[in-house]
Amino acid sequence: MEKTFLMVKPDGVQRNLIGKIVQRFEEKGFKLAGAKLMLVSNELAEQHYGEHKERPFFGELVEFITSGPVFAMVWEGEDVIATARNMMGKTNPSEAAPSTIRGDYGITVGKNIIHGSDSPESAEREIKLFFDESELITYEKVD
Ligand code: CMP
Repeated sequence: MEKTFLMVKPDGVQRNLIGKIVQRFEEKGFKLAGAKLMLVSNELAEQHYGEHKERPFFGELVEFITSGPVFAMVWEGEDVIATARNMMGKTNPSEAAPSTIRGDYGITVGKNIIHGSDSPESAEREIKLFFDESELITYEKVD
């Protein structure tokens, strides 16, 4: 079954949005396969955001994601990567549709509440970066 990596960013944790965000994915029908509240080291942040290294906002990105606890999660389900991205809304909360997470809770592109893998390759890479295999639950397939 497809898995994705989602992370409530420091702004979402600080604003007590973990519960509301988890609830959305649970109610949609996805299965939580792993979760932890953690601090992101500089090294992990630079690995995670490696593809943005040349962007002018890279320093800001690393500074922000390491500024406080994040809630890292792995969710499982059919088409969960694309569906979670739709539920999150556009990267810039000012363009994100109402009823999406960023549309409902965010204002600025830097502090946009949540991160989600954008492809199967990113999901695999990001899950491995943040979680050990032993921290993840595998559900039996039930039709
Ligand atoms: P995320 O999905 O975590 O992946 C990369 C992040 O870069 C993105 O969410 C935004 O929070 C951030 N980002 C994108 N564009 C900008 C920008 N112009 N200034 C600051 N941060 C940005």
